[in-house]
This record gives sequence, structure tokens and C-alpha cells, in this order.
Amino acid sequence: MKGLILSGGKGTRLRPLTYTRAKQLVPIANKPVLFYGVEAIVAAGIRDIGVVVGDTREEIQAALGDGARFGARITYIEQDAPRGLAHAVLISEKYLRGEPFVMYLGDNVIADGITALVDDYRRIGCNSQILLAKVPNPSQFGVAELEAGRVVRLTEKPKEPKSDLALVGVYMFDDSIWDAVKSIQPSARQELEITDAIQWLVDHGKTVHPHLVSGWWKDTGKIEDMLEANRIILDTFTARGCDNLGADCRVEGKVVVEPGARLERASVRGPAVIGAGATVRDAFVGPYTAIGPDCLIDRCEIENSIVLEASRLERIPVRIADSLIGKNVRIHPGLERPRVHRFLVGDNSEIGLV
Ligand code: DAU
Repeated sequence: MKGLILSGGKGTRLRPLTYTRAKQLVPIANKPVLFYGVEAIVAAGIRDIGVVVGDTREEIQAALGDGARFGARITYIEQDAPRGLAHAVLISEKYLRGEPFVMYLGDNVIADGITALVDDYRRIGCNSQILLAKVPNPSQFGVAELEAGRVVRLTEKPKEPKSDLALVGVYMFDDSIWDAVKSIQPSARQELEITDAIQWLVDHGKTVHPHLVSGWWKDTGKIEDMLEANRIILDTFTARGCDNLGADCRVEGKVVVEPGARLERASVRGPAVIGAGATVRDAFVGPYTAIGPDCLIDRCEIENSIVLEASRLERIPVRIADSLIGKNVRIHPGLERPRVHRFLVGDNSEIGLV
């Protein structure tokens, strides 16, 4: 079996972060989202992984390399434009044909990985397996309708969803998918939709097995989802690196202090991670916060947030919460007089003042 990770596309919903980096490389609990997918596929015993890349190909390649550090062999497949998930499959035919494969959307994270799901697929011997999860907002996903436990209809982001079963971004296919992706037409948004390709399988008598996901799953396309995935993953951490902190520091709960991080008169309440080389000084880092490598948190309080590498937050009088702060950002009070807010903020940023 082979793996196919989709890591092209445009991260419009995570702008401005995605002006400067691929959305799949935004970190959750200090690890790029994409790495969770690669690790899950490798853990399922799959070594050969094709990675579909688009405009951000260089960055993705720099992060994953040849896959050796994950125990995988990675082959990059270039997509000229984000023409849809089924288009990404279509252009990967040469790499994949002849073997069943698991397709994993590079911005999805699934608890418990996919090992049991891949084993299930191998055991059942169906043409395709899809994963479904009950969600409160189905119209933001592909939606499945089942009858007597069988898949009858799949609709991409329906305005009036007929069920609350969303398609999770992990799919398994055998060679019957090739006829499907070659037969379908672009949708109204001009994409070749994987939901249409799976519908084609259903309509042509192929077996599409629905697997209900019981654990959590996140599509990290939006900031709230990033923060939630961050919370869930930090919660799985075990405290580490907290033994030799000074007597002036207070650390509670699941806190990971990476090598080279410095805490001075700091209070950290887990779950939280402080990245390598970061400094937390006269500050409070609250639950569900990931401080990236080489950051400085000085005389601030912060909780339920993600701060990317080398950012500096200094002397901020009000607690920062529910925030996603990019890399090399600097937030600090300005001059005393005149007493003004002074901003240098990129396009599509959002700032909430007290
Ligand atoms: O997350 C689950 C949902 O993913 C499913 O419920 C939907 O049925 C499915 O269409 C997909 O919806 P999204 O709108 O979230 O897909 P998105 O455009 O965000 O793309 C998912 C991943 O695939 C992302 O890492 C970018 C990559 N991609 C996307 C397109 C359209 C490509 O590599 N090439 C593409 O052409």
C-alpha cells in the first residue's frame, strides 16, 4: 500500500500566516500539521508516500526532505494549480497505479492515527473506505448520506446538508478510483471533487465502506480549529524538561520545556510547551499555549494561544488569549508620549484591543 498526502492548495482561511508559509506547515503544539499526517501513515506501516505540492513546494520539500527522518520514502508530485482533490489523485496515477493507497489531506489531524483504519480497509477488501465524523456544521464539509449503513450519496459543502456526517480528510482507494477520477467533470467551483469521484464509485456498483470515526478529528483550515487541535494535542503530553528550573519558577500540570529554553521568574500552567531556545521571563504562560522556538515572553500573560518561532512579546499590560501569532512578530508598548497605538500589520491581520 502507498500513501498520498495533499499539500498543495491555497490557505486563504489562515491568512495572513499563509502569505508567508504553507498552511500545512503552521505548527500545532510546536510541530507542523503536516508532520502528524506523515507520522500517522508511517505508523500504519506505509513507507512510500507521494506528496502533492503546489506554489509552496519549496517550503514543503525543505520541511519533509526525502522522508528518511520519518522512516519514509517521499516522492513529490507537482500540481500546477489547486484544481481539486480528485485532480491531485489524477496526476498521481503514475506513482500510485497498481497498489491500493491511503490519501491524507495535509491539513487534517486525527486522534489515534490511522493504523486501525488502514488495517480495517485491508481486512474488509472493499474498493474504497471513507471516514465519517458527526459534526455540528456539516455544510463546511463533504457530507455523506447513508441508508442501512451503506453510502448512497455524497455532496460537497451542501447548503442544506441531509446528514451531519462529514467526510474526514483520509480516504482509501484501490485501482477502481482511476476510472472515477477520469470520468467526473469539474464542479461549480471548477474543481475535480473527490466526493464526486467517490459518488461515481457508488453509482457504478463499487464497494465504498463508511467508517465512523469515534475519536476527535480536525481540519485545521481556520484559526479556531488550529487552537482546538493545539489544545487537544497538548493535553496528550507528559511533563518533560521541568526538573532543573529555578526556585523562582512555578510549573503546574503537563508542561514541556524543550532543551535550551529558559524560564526566569515564570509561571507556566499546563498543558503547555515552551520551544527550544525560548525565554519566558517575569511572565505567565497559561493552559493550552504553545510557545515556539527562540521566542521571548517578557512581562506578559498569555493563554490558549500559539506563538510561532522567534516572536517577542514584551511588557503587555493585558493578558493575551485565543491568539495565533506568526513568526518574528514583535508586540511591545510604544513610547510613553504621545500615548498611541502604533501598528505595522500585514494584510488580512486581525487585532483585538481591550
Ligand atoms: O477536511 C475534510 C474536507 O476536506 C472534506 O470534508 C471535503 O469533502 C474535502 O473537499 C476537503 O475540503 P476542504 O475545503 O477543507 O479542502 P481544502 O481545499 O482545504 O484542501 C484540503 C487539502 O488538500 C489541503 O491540504 C490542500 C490540499 N489540496 C487542495 C486542493 C483543492 C491540494 O493539494 N490540491 C488541490 O487541488
